[in-house]
Amino acid sequence: MSSKRVLSGMQPSGKLHLGNLVGAVNNWLSLQNNYDASFFIADWHALTTHYQKTENLDQNKTEMMIDWLATGIDPEKATLFVQSDVKEHAELHLIFSMITPLSWLERVPTYKEKMENIKGKDLHTYGFLGYPVLQAADIVLHDADIVPVGIDQLPHLELAREIVRSFHHIYGTTVFKEPQQLMTEVPKLTGMDGRKMSKSYENAIYISDSEEDIKKKVMSYITDPARIRKTDAGNPDVCNLFPLHKLFSTDDTCKEVVSGCKSASLGCVECKKKATAAVTEALFPIQERRRHYEGKEADVKEIFHDGADRARVVAQEMIEKVNRAIKI
Ligand code: TRP
Ligand code: SF4
Repeated sequence: MSSKRVLSGMQPSGKLHLGNLVGAVNNWLSLQNNYDASFFIADWHALTTHYQKTENLDQNKTEMMIDWLATGIDPEKATLFVQSDVKEHAELHLIFSMITPLSWLERVPTYKEKMENIKGKDLHTYGFLGYPVLQAADIVLHDADIVPVGIDQLPHLELAREIVRSFHHIYGTTVFKEPQQLMTEVPKLTGMDGRKMSKSYENAIYISDSEEDIKKKVMSYITDPARIRKTDAGNPDVCNLFPLHKLFSTDDTCKEVVSGCKSASLGCVECKKKATAAVTEALFPIQERRRHYEGKEADVKEIFHDGADRARVVAQEMIEKVNRAIKI
């Protein structure tokens, strides 16, 4: 057990899908055993893009926590909390906003990308531009050494380090650690339509999906586009479905699929049936644990409450140091 501190957050978009599971949560499961880990639900971050639609927010936070617990994330091992329960996030965000140049924020790739891709929402807001400032505050408030994130978040980590350096330079004292990312390397998991698996694309398999839903979704995957008839040889490397095998099937099944696909002895329907079985089996223990927490909102509230109490201890200590440095 290392005394190093790990922190990561997730926006409460609702139910967890396989992309979240393999891209983040599976990694958290091993980190919670080996580090002083904290995982939080970033509800203020959700407001940066969903400020007009908040009616599901509370429900989404509960659903997300139930999904985390179902996967094996354990409040006895890690500190689990909701961002807005620890007000120091807002305080540090405010302070960081004073020293962060606009030009740093305008060049963050996720800013431009979301601006272009998210339609029907006015994102020309102060808060949306400041998304990575809030994230920087999250990270250093909890004194995190290591931040497990996907590749799209690396610019946010870099910005967090720049803000830290700038703070130290301006106030002439060292308060924070410079957080390091821990990159999650996983095969790219796409949805049925071949795009990145995402709730907003409506192409995701959720960890709470029934066997029937999983089957329907797996069966509707777009496969190797060059393989029109079963007698055409296919190529798993260009097939959207194959990552499901890589992630959930045994090595033997993967080998069978590769050779069967390339030699045209295995049809896509058969291959998808194997993938359905592998995903269903992998989700079985998760779904069983999930049933245990369903309808136990009070237990989840208790976890949020305890987690916030624990998180606040470190956060308050950090804010005191910050205010001393600024002389506030
Ligand atoms: N921006 C992250 C994402 O969309 C979520 C997040 C918010 C986060 N604050 C964080 C991740 C702090 C790591 C550390 O995935
Ligand atoms: Fe994809 Fe499987 Fe069809 Fe090959 S057999 S193209 S891996 S679905």
